[in-house]
Formats: sequence, structure tokens, C-alpha cells
Amino acid sequence: MIIVIDGPAGSGKSSTARQVANLLRLQYLDSGALYRAVTVAWLKSGKEMSFFEKLNHLNLTFRYENGLFRVWIDSIEVTNQIRTEAISSIVSVVASRPDVRALVNQIMHKAISESVCIADGRDLGTAVFPEADLKIYMDASPTVRAKRRTRELIESGDEADYQDVLDKILQRDELDSGRDADPLRMAEDAILVKTDKLTFDQQVELICQLIQEKQKQQ
Ligand code: DC
Repeated sequence: MIIVIDGPAGSGKSSTARQVANLLRLQYLDSGALYRAVTVAWLKSGKEMSFFEKLNHLNLTFRYENGLFRVWIDSIEVTNQIRTEAISSIVSVVASRPDVRALVNQIMHKAISESVCIADGRDLGTAVFPEADLKIYMDASPTVRAKRRTRELIESGDEADYQDVLDKILQRDELDSGRDADPLRMAEDAILVKTDKLTFDQQVELICQLIQEKQKQQ
């Protein structure tokens, strides 16, 4: 069984999907982390355009354990590096390349095994796993997403300015929804979960219920 959660940056889909995976003991696949890892590798290459011609040689591995989606490039762990601002600010550009999308999609298809898996991203319900058993689209207004992101950054000890976070969220929305290759959009058969007025625990509970209902039907 494949469950996908798509949605814009800061909609809370990754943290929600991770918590749902922990509670229901599912495999978890973070597709954004894979785009971020490709971006790290491209930066390491010195932003060489020839890097994209050799994408198939990229040795990218990952594992979900103890609530953390860990990623390695050539056996070097980049789990923390993929979350830095340097990567967040250019990942949308790298993710807009059809060759990068083809690579990440291929990796994801290989990773999905027989067991129940929950994956999150932008185009999973529309382009990567159109056959998914349950499609969820999580959304919230840009201001709510920016407020949450600002709070998270401050809580983790980083400096954050609300207006700056909001501007970046709007920029990423535009890049993710406006690109030609598999843009962010809600699949016709997805269930919309608007989280503006939901707490994190309510979001998790709602999605767990949707999955359990689906499991009963199967
Ligand atoms: O969810 P995130 O912020 O970690 O995603 C990082 C980037 O990857 C973001 O710019 C959108 C892109 N992405 C994508 O294009 N398709 C996906 N399935 C997942 C992420």
C-alpha cells in the first residue's frame, strides 16, 4: 500500500508523515530530501553543468530510522547538510530539471517495497505514484506556513525574521508550482487537508484515521 502526501513548502507534510509512519509503523520516504541531496552533490561538484550528464553515477543512499530520514552521498552522510539555508535556497532550481526528476523518481520506485509506505513531496500523487492507494494534499495559507516556520527556526536556535521567511515561502511556491516539469498541484483524486486551524496532533490523527479507513477497505 502506498500513501502519498503532497503540498507546498512549510505545510507540515514531512513532520506529519514522519509521525504517522512512527505511530502506524510504516516505511517513510522523504522525496524532498532526495532533491536536496542531489543539490548538495551538485554544489560539491562546483556547480559544474557536466554534473547532470553523469547523474546516473550518483551514489545516493538513504534510510529512515528513529524518526530521522538519513541520507548519504558516496557513503558520506549529508543528513544535516541538506537542511541548510544554502541548500534550501537553490533546491527548487535543481528540482525543476527533468533529468534530476527522472533520477529521483527512479530511486523512489526502487525503494517502495511490498510493505506499507508513506511518502511526501510535491508531485507524488500526480506524477510519481499516480496509482497510490491514498493521496493526501496538505495545504495552509502562506502566512500560517511562514509563522510556523519562523517559530520552528527560533525554537531550534536559529535566527529568523517572519517577513523574510514569508518571502522565501512565496518564492518557493512560485518555483514549485510554476515549473514545466511535474509542477506542484493537487491530484484530482487527492483528499485536501487544510491545516490552518489544525494543531499538529490533530493533523496526525486525521491522517492516521484516513489510512486506517483505507486499510479496512482493502
Ligand atoms: O519538501 P522539501 O522542502 O524538502 O523539498 C525540497 C525541494 O524539492 C522543493 O524545492 C521542492 C522539491 N520537490 C519536488 O520538486 N518534488 C518532490 N516530490 C519533492 C520535493
